[in-house]
Amino acid sequence: MNDPLLVGVIGAAGRGGSLGKIFHSHPTTRVHALCDINFDSSREGWGSDWAVPQAEEFGVDLIYSDAEEMLDKAGVDIAIIGTPMPLHVPQSLMALERGIHVFSEVPAGVNIAECKELVAAVKASSATYMMAENYCYIKPNVLIKELVEQGYFGELYFGEGEYVHELKEYNERTPWRRKWQTGINGNTYPTHMLGPVLEWFADRVTAVSCVGTGHHYQDPRGDYYENEDSTMTMCRLAKGGLVKLRLDMLSDRPHNLNYYSLQGTKGCYEAERGLGDQPKIWLADFHEENPPQWHPLADFEQDFLPEKWLNPPPEALEAGHWGGDYWEVDDFVQAIVNGTPPPVDIHRAMDMTLPGLVSQQSIQQDGAWLDVPNSREW
Ligand SMILES: NC(=O)c1ccc[n+]([C@@H]2O[C@H](COP(=O)([O-])OP(=O)(O)OC[C@H]3O[C@@H](n4cnc5c(N)ncnc54)[C@H](O)[C@@H]3O)[C@@H](O)[C@H]2O)c1
Repeated sequence: MNDPLLVGVIGAAGRGGSLGKIFHSHPTTRVHALCDINFDSSREGWGSDWAVPQAEEFGVDLIYSDAEEMLDKAGVDIAIIGTPMPLHVPQSLMALERGIHVFSEVPAGVNIAECKELVAAVKASSATYMMAENYCYIKPNVLIKELVEQGYFGELYFGEGEYVHELKEYNERTPWRRKWQTGINGNTYPTHMLGPVLEWFADRVTAVSCVGTGHHYQDPRGDYYENEDSTMTMCRLAKGGLVKLRLDMLSDRPHNLNYYSLQGTKGCYEAERGLGDQPKIWLADFHEENPPQWHPLADFEQDFLPEKWLNPPPEALEAGHWGGDYWEVDDFVQAIVNGTPPPVDIHRAMDMTLPGLVSQQSIQQDGAWLDVPNSREW
């Protein structure tokens, strides 16, 4: 057996630690070093309130508080970027310049200028870059993609994605969120809601218009959040489709992190809304009743889910986000091993990230429709 690929986790508390555990359990990779500013109490920055996993949890003795030092000294092949949003690009650049593969948390970047830098760095590097958009890997989303690709929805023309996740307390424990997620107006966290829908449409967003519901919530200091409670971003797709995105991180209400819908000429889909609801589908080729009735999406699992989803290894069942986190890690590792492009490569990462950044300009202009750049032209 070949030596495992060695992984360095940058930002080890939340997502970095969870992803690290998956890489550690994967047969081809092993965590070799951890880096977090919280390992050194004298360091200032976007540290969080959560406990950082300790070296013993991974059986490693390489611990750093400086990402550059870890990349220079630890001898890692892969860097997990699990740090706060404004660090994704700077730390991805550090790794790519050293020929170290990057698995970066979402979104890819926080402004268009740095996204351009990232695209240039990926093009110039021998290393593989993938953005860790795990909602594309959630089981119902994978199943819908299979059904779309086999033509059962006909021509797609409308989709929706929502991320409704009240996190006012999280804002205080991870202060970067207060600035980068709820401290800016517009869609500051677009990839979970948009990623799966773009995968179904096999398309990209060319223009967005973003409006909001106003400001009804204050932080513990009495300041209103800059992000409006709910923002709606309408997205025009290159082939003509329309997608509606709702982001709400502030409203007092139950969570719904993964609501999606899809409409095509031959079928439609709606994810569950809660309270006993389940993902449901109507496809003209299978359901002949008149008028049309909803059917459980689960009816299609046995015949249409990819084999690996039907018989997942125990590591996948233990991974977060209903197993999807394991398959995104596996796809990234296979891309490195086989020298093939990863599914969420740099341009797909931009397709999922840039509409949010442009929505932040649109909402300042009362919902003006603004063009979204195509990173393939940079
Ligand atoms: N894919 C998902 O489902 C998902 C879920 C949550 C968060 N995220 C994304 O993951 C990222 C991290 O979110 P989180 O909730 O884990 O945040 P977190 O604050 O819990 O963890 C970030 C960690 O990074 C460390 N850190 C900060 N600055 C650093 C630096 N300069 N060098 C090294 N370490 C540093 C912090 O001390 C902390 O331990 C965010 O960008 C977020 O958007 C993705």
